[in-house]
This record gives sequence, C-alpha cells and structure tokens, in this order.
Amino acid sequence: MAARSRWKLLQSMILSSSNTQHNHNTTNIIQSPSDNSDINILSQISKRKHQGFNLFSRQKREEEWFIYDLYDHVTLNVRIKIPRAIDLKTTFASEYSGFLNTGNICIWPAEEVLGYYCMKNENLFRNKNVCELGGGMCALAGLIVAAKCHPQSITLTDGNPDCDLFLDVDMRSMQMLWNKDTVYDTKYDIVICADCTFDKETHPHLLHVIRSILKKPPLNDKSDKSMFILCAPHRGDSLRAFITLLESINEFHVELLVKYDDKIWQLHEQSLKEEQEYYDRDTHYPLIVCASWN
Ligand SMILES: C[S@@+](CC[C@H](N)C(=O)[O-])C[C@H]1O[C@@H](n2cnc3c(N)ncnc32)[C@H](O)[C@@H]1O
Repeated sequence: MAARSRWKLLQSMILSSSNTQHNHNTTNIIQSPSDNSDINILSQISKRKHQGFNLFSRQKREEEWFIYDLYDHVTLNVRIKIPRAIDLKTTFASEYSGFLNTGNICIWPAEEVLGYYCMKNENLFRNKNVCELGGGMCALAGLIVAAKCHPQSITLTDGNPDCDLFLDVDMRSMQMLWNKDTVYDTKYDIVICADCTFDKETHPHLLHVIRSILKKPPLNDKSDKSMFILCAPHRGDSLRAFITLLESINEFHVELLVKYDDKIWQLHEQSLKEEQEYYDRDTHYPLIVCASWN
C-alpha cells in the first residue's frame, strides 16, 4: 500500500478508535517504543510491533521523561510524549493532519539508529554546525549529537509547529517546513535526517532544503567536506526514488551504506530470525545515505 494511503487509513482508524476508546476511559491507543502495551491498530498497518533495535538503554524517570544511557557515563533526559487517544483526535483533526503528524506518534527506529551512527562517527561532527531536519517529537539523533559529538552548534527542526521538540529543548530549535518556493539562508556543515523520505511528494522540497542549507566548501579546500546524512528504511521504492533524485542533479557524490555498523547488522540478522512474523527488512532496517558536494 502506498505510504500516503496507508497513513490515511491509519488516521481514520485512530480517529474512529479514539471515539470508542475515549468513551471507555482508555487513553493509550498507540504503541510506541517506550510503551510496550500490545495495541494492534498501528502494528496492523505500520508493522510497529518491531520496537527498533534498543541501541540505548532507557529508563522512565517520570511521566513523559526518560533517561537515555548514551554510554561512557553520559545520559540524556528526553521527553517522549506518548500520544493519547484524545490528543490524537485533536492532532489529526488539526490543519497539520497527515504526514506532518507522523513525527508526533513515536520516535521511529531510524531516528535511534541515526543517533547511534552519529555517536559512532563522532569525528564528523566535531566543531561543525549541524542541523537536523524532520526531527519529530524530540529529535533524538540531534540531541545525541549535542551530547556526544562536540558540535559547534546544533539546530533541531521539524515542519510541524506543534512538535513537542519546540517546547522542551534547551537549545536552538525551530520550525522548518520544506518547501521549494522558500528561501533558506542559514548554512550548516552537516545536515541529518531520519525516516523522512517515505512520501515521494515531499522529495523535491526536501532536496531544495538540502541544496539551500548545506554549506559549499571553498573551491580550494576540498578537505572541508560538508555532508547530508539520511537514515531511512527502503519503505517500498521511496528511498530509492530519493537517492535517484539526489543523483540526478549531478551535484552530489552519493553513497548508500547498507552494512554500516556491526552491532546494528547483527541485531538486524537476529530480528530476521527471531521476529519473523513482524520484522520486515523493507520497513525496519534503516540504511544510511551520505551525500557531499561534488
Ligand atoms: C516519520 S516522521 C520522522 C520523525 C523522526 N525523524 C523520527 O524518525 O522519529 C517524518 C517527519 O518529517 C516531518 N515532515 C514531513 N513533511 C515535512 C515537510 N514538508 N516539512 C518539514 N517537515 C516535514 C514530519 O513533521 C515528521 O516529524
């Protein structure tokens, strides 16, 4: 099923379910990585039974707040606001219904993988100005970059102005809607993004943003590489379509990394074996795409 129609179906099921469930005082209708209740609406449609690779251990501190262990005694307080039926009802009814709300459902597995990948490639970020696009509910990967990778600056963005990341983050965060008719002035050395390519209609807009904000290195210094790093599962032919678009403009050197980390690859193979019923490589194994200016 095409991503957009699957999302529409999910949306209508959530709305009708929220009516029923609300009458029975049941609030949590969505399964998220931090909420293991077995609610099957989302999993039926989006295969959310796979909970990601759990690359960071996480403890609930208090309502909506979680402590992520980022290894080496570094921890991160993250607010994960699990949507309740009533919230979803208002959210889906809002003018931002549709794809913009996918970021307020949960932290998608690619976001956690992106954070882990960044942490493991910390040298790419040291003293760099970094921007995360489409960070969703808390821009976890951007927070991990801030906590572990010594960037010069980090800017967390999403197109949805109702994103919770704007409420809680004690660092630069802003609404950034991808639109090919908008002029974007600020430049960044590294731009990161997770699970944002599943809607092919947004691809030209996303590409425009990347071309606008990714700093071009000075002509005489090719060593100072700026880079766009995307982490996303195939999701049908959507990732391939985005890569083709990136390559088609002949401005970027594009690399697709499939086996980019031993631990993640091992967990992927384990999930293929042990979660056969619901682990789907196409939906759940995020790949890394790196693009730098030619
Ligand atoms: C599947 S979510 C991924 C969120 C987060 N990166 C994660 O993986 O958990 C896609 C994100 O892209 C954002 N998005 C979709 N279309 C957008 C647009 N045109 N401009 C800006 N953000 C957009 C949504 O608001 C949403 O947060």
